[in-house]
Amino acid sequence: MNSLQGKVIVITGGAGGIGETTARTAWAQGASVVITDRDGARVEAIAAELGERAAGLAVDVTRREDNQRMVDLALERFGRLDGVFLNAGIEGEVGPFDSRSDAAWETVFAVNVHGVRFGVQAALPALRQNKGGSIVITSSVAGVRGAAGLSPYVSSKHAVIGLMRTLAAELGPEGIRVNTLNPGPVDNRMMRSIEEQANPGHGDEVHTAFAARIPMGRYVTNEECANMAVFLLSDSASGSNGNTFMVDGGYCAH
Ligand SMILES: NC(=O)c1ccc[n+]([C@@H]2O[C@H](COP(=O)([O-])OP(=O)(O)OC[C@H]3O[C@@H](n4cnc5c(N)ncnc54)[C@H](O)[C@@H]3O)[C@@H](O)[C@H]2O)c1
Repeated sequence: MNSLQGKVIVITGGAGGIGETTARTAWAQGASVVITDRDGARVEAIAAELGERAAGLAVDVTRREDNQRMVDLALERFGRLDGVFLNAGIEGEVGPFDSRSDAAWETVFAVNVHGVRFGVQAALPALRQNKGGSIVITSSVAGVRGAAGLSPYVSSKHAVIGLMRTLAAELGPEGIRVNTLNPGPVDNRMMRSIEEQANPGHGDEVHTAFAARIPMGRYVTNEECANMAVFLLSDSASGSNGNTFMVDGGYCAH
């Protein structure tokens, strides 16, 4: 059993499918959770529902100071930090490389890459004070494969794998483990958006085509992703550092 009993975990993207489910799963396993998102009202409502051991905070991960505020809240409210789940991400707009504007690239990188960098920077002093911990970054199958129409997103999800491997090498000696969660297509809002952008009005056909490429024949669920995230945040994963953990139904196996 992957228990998070007594651990203090900060989660970004906590109003989204994977983030909210991870927050609830971590909380159910005994963690205290700081649930953050740019949708502050939603994470505050989730935290209020959970009650004890939960706090919600409006955070824009592209702002360095917001990342600091979420770590400060964990320390103030719960006294320590054991792990961060740097999960906030955006898919951006779907379209061929030639049509991608500078702004499209910058927007996706600001959230998916620099948001993660700021999160790590904010968390490190607290994790060092804790004499170790776990950093889990949400990458994607798009971090290890290309995907037509998603050049900024794919590039950003490759970038955080490079960051994760480098951090794993640098921080391993300090007992701070760094890994990525790499979901395949998940049955949630983000895939609905990608499907609909790829073929407006016929997103269900895109869904069927994607699912047919997955050996398990279906998208994975928020719960399946959350279970992997919680495992990586827990001491059950004490030997895992510097790796990509696929939850993709076999998508990358062929
Ligand atoms: N859904 C999928 O199929 C899939 C597959 C692979 C990887 N991922 C990754 O999983 C992570 C979670 O996505 P999801 O599937 O739960 O989608 P989602 O859109 O439901 O959740 C993403 C959350 O991130 C938040 N967010 C976006 N920009 C932010 C910002 N600047 N500051 C703070 N919060 C911000 C959103 O408000 C949202 O709640 C993302 O990094 C995504 O790229 C998703």
